[in-house]
Amino acid sequence: MSSVEYIHYRGIDMPTEAHTMESLEYAQNFSVEDTDVFSVTYPKSGTAWMQEILPLLLNDGDLTPIQTIPNWDRAPWLEEKRLAVVVDQLKSPRALVTHFPYRLMPHSFHASKAKVIYVMRNPMDVMVSSYYFHQMAAFLQDPGTFEEFMDKFLEGRVLFGKWTDHVKGWRHTDLGDRIMYITYEEMVQDLPAALRRMSDFLGRKLSDEVIQKIAEHCSFKTMKTNNMSNFSLVPKIYMDSDKSPFLRKGVAGDWKNHFSSEQQAKFTSVIRKDLEKESFSLPWSLD
Ligand code: A3P
Repeated sequence: MSSVEYIHYRGIDMPTEAHTMESLEYAQNFSVEDTDVFSVTYPKSGTAWMQEILPLLLNDGDLTPIQTIPNWDRAPWLEEKRLAVVVDQLKSPRALVTHFPYRLMPHSFHASKAKVIYVMRNPMDVMVSSYYFHQMAAFLQDPGTFEEFMDKFLEGRVLFGKWTDHVKGWRHTDLGDRIMYITYEEMVQDLPAALRRMSDFLGRKLSDEVIQKIAEHCSFKTMKTNNMSNFSLVPKIYMDSDKSPFLRKGVAGDWKNHFSSEQQAKFTSVIRKDLEKESFSLPWSLD
């Protein structure tokens, strides 16, 4: 049995290292501004990547934020303790991230014109990434074997609940054109095109040169060497990159190196069943 305890809040488990009842109440009462931009992700879907991308898109490619401010302070998590500490230092338009399901978004968010970029990643790769993350992060419970972790993931006995619930909630919003959907895979495949789509959505007029510059600074390779973004500032007792680096592989399809054909069949059938009544289809084949 793992000795790490999680905080349980309105049906969702979160690590106590970064979340407290106060931080969660603070998030509920947070004053969202019309100009705020949220990147919403289920954990391990590209959150840190968006913490690199958003400040650059919102500041015409100015590198100062990504070179001088750690990612958790330049685009803080709505639900984490750190937000209250840094909120006064955030410059408008503010970039924020959250793993919250749609139903936990604060009232002021709904009343605002704040925009959302929802990043979705193939759940098999999410699970693999999460499995390694649980091994390197001391504030997370021991994942057990790969098979055991898969069962937990499919049943939603993991941080921020079931992947399919998260996706369903964020697919059925009344946000209209305030929300844009993008996939991690699309970003891996053609980052400049993905950045162009995001900047158009945010109403930024960026030249091809600036888009190219942002793409270079947000590449996996460059982010891995950026100490403000690769979590090397976090003491090893919390995150041990010798066990697994935070920026681990950064590819689409790593699940193929981990799943047996039986595991893939089980995983796929549970996800399909969870989504069988949904009108949307997943952007990737799970086969
Ligand atoms: P892997 O473990 O598959 O490598 P999150 O930030 O939501 O926790 O997601 C972490 C995942 O995003 C990790 O996946 C990490 O490597 C990947 N990632 C972060 N920055 C990336 C980038 N610039 N390009 C590709 N993948 C990136």
